[in-house]
Amino acid sequence: MANVFIMEHPLIKHKIGIIRDMNTGTKEFREMISEIAMLETYESTRDLKLEEVEIETPMSPTTVERLCGKKLAIVPILRAGLGMVPGMQALIPSAKVGHIGMYRDHDTLQPIEYYCKLPADVEERDVFVVDPMLATGGSACDAIAQLKKHGCKRIRFLCIIAAPEGLKKLQEEHPDIDIIVGALDDHLNDKGYIVPGLGDAGDRIFGTM
Ligand code: PRP
Ligand code: URA
Repeated sequence: MANVFIMEHPLIKHKIGIIRDMNTGTKEFREMISEIAMLETYESTRDLKLEEVEIETPMSPTTVERLCGKKLAIVPILRAGLGMVPGMQALIPSAKVGHIGMYRDHDTLQPIEYYCKLPADVEERDVFVVDPMLATGGSACDAIAQLKKHGCKRIRFLCIIAAPEGLKKLQEEHPDIDIIVGALDDHLNDKGYIVPGLGDAGDRIFGTM
């Protein structure tokens, strides 16, 4: 079964409270999404490998630790995943960024892929698939299946708010990935929206309400 990590950090909880508030405007909403993504990235990269390197400080030679091992890629699911990228790039500037475009059909709630552009060497990278919302789980499951088709083996999924229904589906369909969740909510409503949730993440990030 996939490993699920639900964030407990007070800063993450505080910022999620701000994005849930319907009175939070587009600018602050976008800033908070990026900052929460940065904090989730920080929390979920404790297992990155380090190697020792000899350097010289202005005072003396010394040994320091430096990241090594596999290179990283960030793959936002369009549109709303884009809002998470700046915060993650601030921590991992060398990560390449791929894009998978998906929207949910309003009636069937099935994801429809309309775009896919990935780094040429994506199969050699540890991949962070990112989307603020895990609702039915259809979009995340399909995006991850697409990455596996491209040969990716080490995949993490980062979201900010998850519904139990989507989390279960993602765990069952992709038991080999790590799932990092900012907050686990109560349920989906009959239109596939997360309750209490925050509404439509893409609309709130890009001001298209
Ligand atoms: C939202 C969200 C996820 C998807 C989650 O995107 O950003 O991609 O819904 O729902 P699911 O778990 O039921 O698949 P949406 O389809 O609204 O597209 P948008 O980001 O372009 O607005
Ligand atoms: N997509 C969103 O943006 N919000 C939800 O609550 C569900 C899917």
